[in-house]
Amino acid sequence: MARSLLITQIGELVTNTPAGFAALDDAALVIEGDRVVWTGPSARAPAADTVEDAAGQAVLPGFVDSHAHLVFAGERSAEFAARMAGQQYAAGGIRSTVAATRAATDAELRAGLHRLVAEMVRQGTTTFECKSGYGLTVTDEARSVALAAEVTPEVTYLGAHVVPPEFSGDVAAYVDLVCGTMLDACAPHSRWVDVFCERGAFGADEARAVLTAGRSRGLLPRIHANQLGLGPGVQLAVELGAASADHCTFLSSTDVDALASSGTVATLLPGAEFGTRQPYPDARRLLSAGVAVALATDCNPGSSYTSSMPFCIALAVRDMRMTTAEAVWAATAGGARALRRTDVGYLAPGARADLIMLDAPSHAYLAYRPGVPLVRAVWQAGRRVDGR
Ligand code: NIG
Ligand code: FE
Repeated sequence: MARSLLITQIGELVTNTPAGFAALDDAALVIEGDRVVWTGPSARAPAADTVEDAAGQAVLPGFVDSHAHLVFAGERSAEFAARMAGQQYAAGGIRSTVAATRAATDAELRAGLHRLVAEMVRQGTTTFECKSGYGLTVTDEARSVALAAEVTPEVTYLGAHVVPPEFSGDVAAYVDLVCGTMLDACAPHSRWVDVFCERGAFGADEARAVLTAGRSRGLLPRIHANQLGLGPGVQLAVELGAASADHCTFLSSTDVDALASSGTVATLLPGAEFGTRQPYPDARRLLSAGVAVALATDCNPGSSYTSSMPFCIALAVRDMRMTTAEAVWAATAGGARALRRTDVGYLAPGARADLIMLDAPSHAYLAYRPGVPLVRAVWQAGRRVDGR
């Protein structure tokens, strides 16, 4: 029989429901093997093989980071500094990371990937998505998704991130490659297909072609939509039944209505607005229309070089006017919905035992004490993984 662990004297246990944030005070939780088997009041907790006293601190579901670009080489701090000095962000910066990624060895890419994954776990992320998109040749995209598959099941094929320089005169030929040989090479390692649908990247017809081709190979669509301006991305996401439309920084009322009457999650990436000094998406408008909202890091070397879900929660609360409860739900259950996962993002019997303990008595501290490393312990599938 699997060994059990009782975590008791939890000041606030964030449980979540599909409908929204929920929490119990003075709570306890029992893990058996890789699953949660019991939650309830501390006073009624059953016995277990091992007991951990939370001493009044908060326990939450591990964060679900549903949007991250982690396979790359190089860095773009000079581009960031120039932006902070007034220069505008443009999609083209991606190409400098593409050049560095193509030049890197597998071992260099794997080392960078592992460093970022370790950072994420230390900050409480227990499920994360990882995109390709900085290789943009058949070989470099295939090795990117293969490397990503070493660290997560949520692998996204993003061959349509930007048109690489060698195809700059012939976008149609690049889209054919992405929908053909490159897809053949990447589909076996991928669960998702994504496209950067934006001025300077791919238009509606190209994006539809890529997502439809991916879908015909069994990949599920998600989309980078409406990051730099109004555009067709959000409505395309809804049209194709995408799990998520990501960014949603510029939205028309038709976009909001389309999202509200769909099963597509709006994934907001405030790290990207922070790193590009753009206006933040209007989370309140989405929430009052009844749209399901997720929060993710968009961790990448260009627009958002943060691996920190707590940082994104703090931005969402302070600058996007989400309540602390809404932001925590979006960073856990919302991310799970954006990845169509029903085993993570909540804590109740049957859930995967992915959870974090804070050095703080309530979830609100994640925004109240921004920049402070508050994640004290992390369990992934029932195993302590924070190395302490
Ligand atoms: O999500 N938008 C497209 N991709 C990334 C940016 C990538 C880059 O600038 O390297 C994003 O923000
Ligand atoms: Fe992105």
